[in-house]
Amino acid sequence: MNWDDESAYAEPPAGDRLVATAADGEDRAVEAALRPKDLGEFVGQERVREQLDLVLKAARARGATADHVLLSGAPGLGKTTLSMIIAAEMGAPIRITSGPAIQHAGDLAAILSSLTEGEVLFLDEIHRMSRPAEEMLYMAMEDFRVDVIVGKGPGATAIPLELPPFTLVGATTRAGLLPPPLRDRFGFTGHMEFYAPAELQRVVHRSARLLDVEIEDQGAAEIAGRSRGTPRIANRLLRRVRDYAQVKADGVITREIAAQALDVYEVDARGLDRLDRAVLTALLKLFGGGPVGLSTLAVAVGEERETVEEVAEPFLVREGLLARTPRGRIATPAAWEHLGLVNDAGTAGRAGTPPQQGLFGG
Ligand SMILES: Nc1ncnc2c1ncn2[C@@H]1O[C@H](COP(=O)(O)OP(=O)(O)OP(=O)(O)O)[C@@H](O)[C@H]1O
Ligand SMILES: [Mg+2]
Repeated sequence: MNWDDESAYAEPPAGDRLVATAADGEDRAVEAALRPKDLGEFVGQERVREQLDLVLKAARARGATADHVLLSGAPGLGKTTLSMIIAAEMGAPIRITSGPAIQHAGDLAAILSSLTEGEVLFLDEIHRMSRPAEEMLYMAMEDFRVDVIVGKGPGATAIPLELPPFTLVGATTRAGLLPPPLRDRFGFTGHMEFYAPAELQRVVHRSARLLDVEIEDQGAAEIAGRSRGTPRIANRLLRRVRDYAQVKADGVITREIAAQALDVYEVDARGLDRLDRAVLTALLKLFGGGPVGLSTLAVAVGEERETVEEVAEPFLVREGLLARTPRGRIATPAAWEHLGLVNDAGTAGRAGTPPQQGLFGG
C-alpha cells in the first residue's frame, strides 16, 4: 500500500451514510475534481484565508519557505484542500501522508530525508502519530534536522541528518489532542469553522457549474441548508439530488426537487440523517432524554462509540439538540420538538434534569 497516496489512508466511512464524513471510491475522484485550486476559489473561511494569504505572501516576498501550518477543524471543511492550495500558492510540490501511516520514527525519517527544498509535507490526522515519530518531528520542524538511530542497544548511535527547509502542514480534527510542544512549533494555526448557509450555497453553485448541472438559487439554498455547515456534505448531497433530478424530472434542480430528493435519501430539513435521528430517538425513547453514558447510547443504536461521538454528536451538539454533561448525554427541549415527541413531563424539555434542590437554600 502506498501511504503517500491520499486515497490509501481513508478510514472506513461510517456505514453507507449519505453524509458520511470520509469519502470513498468514486466520491474521492469527484471530490478531487471539485477541489478549489487556489485561495481565490476557496469559498468562506474568511479569517483563515486572510491570515494564510499573509503568511504565504510574506514568505514568497522573502523568497523563503513558508512557516509550518496547522489546520484544525471538523471533517470535510477543507483542510486537505487548503494544504494543496498552500503548495500551489508557494509553487511547491506536496507530499501527502498521515499520522496513522507513520508508526515508527524510521517511517518519518524516510519521508523527511527525501523531501526537496521548499516542499510541502501534508501530515493528515497528525494527532494520531506515534510518540517516537512525534519527537523526531519536533526537531525536524525546529532545526530541519533529524537524528537517525543506527544499530540497537548500547551500540546504537545517532547520526544527525540535515534536512532541506520544508513546510509542514498538519491537519487535525482534534486540536486538543496535540501535545503542546508539537502545537507550539507551528508558526500559524488556522481553525476552520463550519460554513454559513450562504457560503455553502456558493459551494453548491460552484460545484454544479463544474459538474455541468443546472440548479436554481432556491435549489442550492435547500441543499446548503441540509449540509450541516460542511462543503463535503454539500457536494455529496448535490450529486444525489442531481441523480434524482435526472431520473424523476428534467434534470434541473429546483427547491422542490432538492427537497423531495433529500427526503428520499433521509436527510431531513435540518440536515440530520438516519444515524443522527437514531441517536436522538434512542436518547429520547429509551432513556427518557438522558442523562445516559456514551457507551450505552452507542450500543443502543448499534454503532461504535467513536462513530456516535465523532460523527453524530458534534453536529447534534452544535444544533442544540444534545448536550454532553458530566453525568452523560442529555436531550434538549429542541430535540423533543424536532422529532415531534413529548417527554414524560408532558412538555418538550427538562428531560433528565432532576429538580434543582435548594441550590440557594430554597
Ligand atoms: N472552502 C471551500 N470551497 C469550496 N469547496 C470546498 C471548500 N472546502 C472544502 N471543499 C470541498 O469539500 C471537499 C472536502 O474538503 P477536504 O477534503 O479538504 O476536507 P478535510 O477538512 O480535509 O476533511 P477530512 O478531515 O475528512 O480529511 C473537497 O472535495 C472540496 O471540494
Ligand atoms: Mg482531509
